[in-house]
Amino acid sequence: MIKLVISNQRGGVAKTTTATTLARLWADRGRKVLLIDTDPQGSVGMSLGLKADKFLHHFVVYNHLFESCLVHATPNIDVLCSSRETIQAEASLMGVPAREMSFSLLFSKVDEPYDIVIIDVAPSITLMQTCAMVYAQSVLIPVSMDTLSLQGAGAFSAQANQLSAELTAIKTDASVLASSPSPGNLTKLTGAIATFKSTAQPLIREMQAVCP
Ligand SMILES: Nc1ncnc2c1ncn2[C@@H]1O[C@H](COP(=O)(O)OP(=O)(O)O)[C@@H](O)[C@H]1O
Ligand SMILES: [Mg+2]
Repeated sequence: MIKLVISNQRGGVAKTTTATTLARLWADRGRKVLLIDTDPQGSVGMSLGLKADKFLHHFVVYNHLFESCLVHATPNIDVLCSSRETIQAEASLMGVPAREMSFSLLFSKVDEPYDIVIIDVAPSITLMQTCAMVYAQSVLIPVSMDTLSLQGAGAFSAQANQLSAELTAIKTDASVLASSPSPGNLTKLTGAIATFKSTAQPLIREMQAVCP
């Protein structure tokens, strides 16, 4: 199973677009995809035109049946949508012991039918994002072709490394650590993907002209 967090601290770099596009590409190749939105803006549901009755917080905080919280967007894509209530959900998680493990404990019980789990996160370092990173262990960073986006990617990459080191150092939930494929490197940066390349093309050409 591939589990992937799509993140950059910068907004508007095509995180949601990357998450939904990857979901579609994998689904078209016959893979069963779970797409989870943890951004309170709820952009995944909006961009796919979904009508959700229940959201992330119903599953994570109120323990509603996972299946009842999903939207079956296509035969191969199930979506757990997000809403403004995700902010309250995050506040509730703050009081939970080993809170960073919340997603690992919850989603590992329900992700078995899926080949791919993709998590879209808010453009900030939040508890939800940390939970997503601990669960997925892999992070893909969309970087639009501008300086601030690159800085956001750098900050995020540093957080991933720090998180990995901290989780390895402290005593956390033994079952989660035991089930980790690489307990010494809990959260790793899978890669970065350049977005908005077409819009940046004139700028790239200009730069090449000045410094070939
Ligand atoms: N390749 C692209 N070309 C043009 N517009 C794009 C492209 N990718 C994304 N967008 C648009 O850019 C905006 C921001 O993308 P989005 O995926 O919502 O970013 P993020 O999730 O990082 O905030 C959206 O309006 C989206 O439709
Ligand atoms: Mg987004």
